Amino acid sequence: MQAEYRQRREQLMAKIGTGTGIFRSAPMAVMHNDVEYNYRQDSDFFYLTGFNESQAVAVLAPHHAEHRFVLFVQPKDREKEVWTGYRCGVDAAKELYGADEAYPISELDEKLPQYLEKADRIYYRFGRDRAFNDTILSHYQRLLQTYPKRGTGPIAIEDTSTILYSMRLLKSQAEMELMRQAAAIAIEAHNHAMEITAPGRYEYEIQAEMERIFRLRGGMGPAYPTIVASGANACVLHYIENVRQMQEQELLLIDAGCAYDYYNSDITRTFPVGGKFTPEQKILYEIVLEAQKQAIAQVQPGNPHKSIHDTAVRVLTEGLVELGILKGEIDKLIEEEKYKPYYMHRTSHWLGLDVHDAGVYQHGEDKPQILQPGQVLTVEPGLYIVPDTKLAEDQPQTHPRWIGIGIRIEDDVLVTPNGHEVLTAGVPKAVDEMER
Ligand code: GLY
Ligand code: MN
Ligand code: MN
Repeated sequence: MQAEYRQRREQLMAKIGTGTGIFRSAPMAVMHNDVEYNYRQDSDFFYLTGFNESQAVAVLAPHHAEHRFVLFVQPKDREKEVWTGYRCGVDAAKELYGADEAYPISELDEKLPQYLEKADRIYYRFGRDRAFNDTILSHYQRLLQTYPKRGTGPIAIEDTSTILYSMRLLKSQAEMELMRQAAAIAIEAHNHAMEITAPGRYEYEIQAEMERIFRLRGGMGPAYPTIVASGANACVLHYIENVRQMQEQELLLIDAGCAYDYYNSDITRTFPVGGKFTPEQKILYEIVLEAQKQAIAQVQPGNPHKSIHDTAVRVLTEGLVELGILKGEIDKLIEEEKYKPYYMHRTSHWLGLDVHDAGVYQHGEDKPQILQPGQVLTVEPGLYIVPDTKLAEDQPQTHPRWIGIGIRIEDDVLVTPNGHEVLTAGVPKAVDEMER
């Protein structure tokens, strides 16, 4: 994998040319008081280095004679390592991670300027770490002030993400393998969840069984907080309390994915708790499934990313009209976004190191993102007949029999040279495969 990190750095350096790129590790996240969450490296930082410690800075200086890749890291410290575990330290940062030079992080302010003085640009993405943003700004301002004397130095800060995100958008063979593994574990967990779901069981039991599989199979854990939403809880898009006892006659919506070696899967299935759809549930389910199938069919190289959402919206709107939940002409209903009370989110996002992965969806109003082989995205239409009486009053045509039903179906799809591959096809979604 080191060769691949190196190749990514070279690719980025070729694009930033005479600039210097600066990348910050993720901060530690506090759970409460002095207890911290498991550390998870910043995805950009990890993509370029494979280095998984906090308190680190990576510098890419393609124009520097000797030090094109520099790491600032926490130094070895026996006493601290007894508590918080192994640290790579300065020397091994060079040996193991291929840095041309490495320094203790405490020397950042002193050592950084030599990598900026000859650069014409700083490439940096302003992040959540305000103090570090200020550090970069103060170096930049100091160099600007002394620019006339030196005649060289950065005259702009550019956001690295335009370049880096277009790289992250196209997955390498190695990345695809990790994503397949993340998908395989989540597939097993979803299939197990379907087997054990039964009236009387609690949502958290299903969550626990799935997350057990995530870890058991060597995953890092859930890719995001697991959603196990029975009945009307499914109408809350990010319901994560998972405390309710499931009832016969209800649907269960599970949105759960696994992180495997930093790569994520993201799957949603909705199925009957008691084994049989009610007629209403089945009618709505078939609309969402059709929307998903048609949207997945849009995943072809050369198609705009936006065609995925547009296709789903059309099928869903047609379905709502057929049921009398919406009334009017399809094109007009779509233009006026009348489907939005029932379908309020978008249909697809990029997937990779982040669940909502790096990459733009539209280059301005008129220039859509075109699908290319190597991209991985989700396709996740839904319908949510929110049990909100005010909403129902506003829409008197919403017959009570639909109220409280929430459905989403989500798969992870790789764009291939000839079309697509559904990475998560191993979890059933046809009505007859889900009924018991
Ligand atoms: N589970 C988050 C999403 O589907 O985007
Ligand atoms: Mn998703
Ligand atoms: Mn999801």
